[in-house]
Amino acid sequence: MNFDAPPNDPIPVFQDWFRDAQQTDLPNPNAMTVATVDPDGRPSARILLLKDLGEDGAVFYTNRESRKGRALAVNPYVALLFHWDPLDRQVRIEGPVSQVSDEESDAYFATRPRPSQIGAWASQQSEALADRKTFDDAVAEVEARFEGRDVPRPPHWGGYRVALERIEFWQGHQYRLHDRMVYTPNGDGTWRTQRLYP
Ligand SMILES: Cc1cc2nc3c(=O)[nH]c(=O)nc-3n(C[C@H](O)[C@H](O)[C@H](O)COP(=O)(O)O)c2cc1C
Repeated sequence: MNFDAPPNDPIPVFQDWFRDAQQTDLPNPNAMTVATVDPDGRPSARILLLKDLGEDGAVFYTNRESRKGRALAVNPYVALLFHWDPLDRQVRIEGPVSQVSDEESDAYFATRPRPSQIGAWASQQSEALADRKTFDDAVAEVEARFEGRDVPRPPHWGGYRVALERIEFWQGHQYRLHDRMVYTPNGDGTWRTQRLYP
């Protein structure tokens, strides 16, 4: 991207940069840090996988009763951060989240490998776990429960879509003379661009 003449729309820019990241040897180019604000006002962060990004926003899937799910129920805003080190690039996205529809979550859940589907039922994500055996037993119980049939999506598992309220592209250069471009929506389908000092 030409930072002195930025494209009007940040989404094709993200898609270009994402394709570039997929061509590196990064094992998970779709891995991103997801920061939330806990009910006590404190930030927490973890890595999640981006599953979709388009005009409607950025999508990830998780357990909605997890620590992040509880945070999002109270503070439905996130910051997402991609760092593609081999390209010396980062992308920062911020915005409000909404839950992905049941139909869309079902469709994505159905594409997951069966052991991941079993795990989604067996894991009480973020809750205290006494020992590995307790979890292995839960996995075995779920496997027995769904033997011979498709595993449905657990009601507590689904997607979140992050509206693109701010998206920043950062390209590193030597001697810290980096390029930064921030896009914010004007609300009428067009975007405002603003270059920032590094
Ligand atoms: C590379 C990588 C990808 C991950 N992808 C996901 C994901 O897509 N969804 C998810 O719920 N957890 C994912 N995790 C696990 C999360 O980082 C985290 O441990 C989990 O979601 C619990 O977070 P919480 O206790 O803050 O809710 C991933 C971890 C790594 C290292």
